[in-house]
Amino acid sequence: MPPRLIAPSILSADFARLGEEVRAVIAAGADWIHFDVMDNHYVPNLTIGPMVCEAIRKHAAKADGTKVPIDVHLMVQPVDALATAFAKAGADLISFHPDASTHVDRTLQLIRAEGCRAGLVFNPAAPLDVLEWVIDKVDLVLIMSVNPGFGGQSFIPSALKKIERARRLIEASGRDIRLEVDGGIKVDNIRAVADAGADTFVAGSAIFGQKDYAAVIAAMRERLAA
Ligand code: DX5
Ligand code: ZN
Repeated sequence: MPPRLIAPSILSADFARLGEEVRAVIAAGADWIHFDVMDNHYVPNLTIGPMVCEAIRKHAAKADGTKVPIDVHLMVQPVDALATAFAKAGADLISFHPDASTHVDRTLQLIRAEGCRAGLVFNPAAPLDVLEWVIDKVDLVLIMSVNPGFGGQSFIPSALKKIERARRLIEASGRDIRLEVDGGIKVDNIRAVADAGADTFVAGSAIFGQKDYAAVIAAMRERLAA
């Protein structure tokens, strides 16, 4: 089992102090910075673009200077032009919803050609079928445990079954692929999500909704280790 990573979603951070928030959550123990991009077309909300990614890139580092990956979750349609723009803006991982791209294989190739790790994201009602055909070009599988568009929603339990299935596909591929889960992750359910096979955990409101980010991240790691 690869190391378990916590990826706080800055969707629930104070956007007026984003650089500071990124630094604070990294000091509190974040492994990745999850960056939610919404276009008011693929999802009913509008957030941040490549310029903001570029602006926080210099803040996404540990005190000793080690770079912290920016994990861009594209909830946009079409995908390709923005994927390229985010690669140039300093993203490390770029994930997209296969139903938002007309040519999924081409989009995966394009992201990797830019030097980024490429991910596919599956909505609560989306099947994993496409993985059978492109798993050799995938570095990350992201299972949505809420319908994308907003932070602070409740975890949809059927995601657990999908995580188990995705884990089996990843194991069968023999490839080094991260299995990330996004939506409604809290201290109380992170262990069940890990037991289903996830290794990377996005959490927005659970972390940024509390004063002490380090305490929440430590409590999550404690549940994972128990
Ligand atoms: C939802 C986003 C999530 C969101 C998670 O569309 O993709 O990353 O920020 O927020 P919480 O953890 O509050 O469910
Ligand atoms: Zn997300």
